[in-house]
This record gives sequence, structure tokens and C-alpha cells, in this order.
Amino acid sequence: MENTLTITFDAIESYDHLDATEKKLFDTAKNIREIAYAPYSNFTVGCAVLLENGEIISGSNQENAAYPSGLCAERTAIFWIGANFPDVKIKKLFVIGAPREALSSVPIPPCGACRQSILEYESKQQDEIEVYFASLDGAIYKTKSIRDLLPFSFDASYL
Ligand code: THU
Repeated sequence: MENTLTITFDAIESYDHLDATEKKLFDTAKNIREIAYAPYSNFTVGCAVLLENGEIISGSNQENAAYPSGLCAERTAIFWIGANFPDVKIKKLFVIGAPREALSSVPIPPCGACRQSILEYESKQQDEIEVYFASLDGAIYKTKSIRDLLPFSFDASYL
């Protein structure tokens, strides 16, 4: 029997349709993307994360000459949060990625490994993390939970 899983996301038309907090997260992700260390792919990614205490933590992708040793922007940010604020919940995560010199882009979703890592923290905190992935100059997609980006996910409940 064939089954269907449905995911839900909001398509926000543009930056102007974000609220003040979301705009701050967008700006933070966009700005830190400018200093990403991505000399090999020249694909730069910025990530801004809102914590429940109101702090915004950000990260960018960090590449390495031994390619697999590099790390995505999302995991750079959330692992730092996990290490430094282990008991503070993550509320929202914003990601913006594009080729370094691009003026225009499409919303870049977190890669599979980042989705799995975000899910780990969502499970740990037993509270949903809103995930936004934005284009530089247009639409921003938003999910209410990382589970919408990772249906049929593997988590600690199976261990
Ligand atoms: N990258 C991220 O930082 N986040 C993602 O979700 C997708 C990919 C980075 C990894 C690498 O430095 C570059 O983008 C090209 O894959």
C-alpha cells in the first residue's frame, strides 16, 4: 500500500514581510555569511540562531583543504550553542547561502547532516525549532519544526 507523508512550510514573500526579530536574524545570517571561510567551494553560508534567552548566536561555513573536515554554517552555530548553552532552548534558526559573489539567490535549505543535527537538539529540548531558509533578495521559507525538513527521521527513540 502506498502511503504519503505531508510536510508544511510557509513561503514568506520577502524580507519586508518578516517581523523585527526575524529581520534581525536575517541580517545577522547575511552579515556573518560575508566572512565565511569557504575558499574551496566559494559557496558562503551564514546561520543565525535565536535562543530563548533572547541571545542571537551565529556561524558560517568553515572549509578545510581536507574537504570532509570542513563544517556547515548551521552545525558551526548549533554545536557552539550545545557546548556553551547546553540548557538554553533554541527557538529559531535562519540560514542564508549562495555563491560568494551572488547578488540574487534562491532559498538554500540545510543539508541532510545539518537537519539531523538540528533534530538532535530539537529532541533534546523537547520543543520545536523554527527553521528559516532565505534567499538574498526574495522568498524565505519557514518550517515550524525541523521534522518538516526531515520526515521519517531517525532519533534516540529507536535506540
Ligand atoms: N553548506 C553549509 O554551510 N550549509 C548547508 O546546509 C549546505 C552546505 C556549506 C558546506 C560547504 O562549505 C559549502 O556550503 C558548499 O557545499
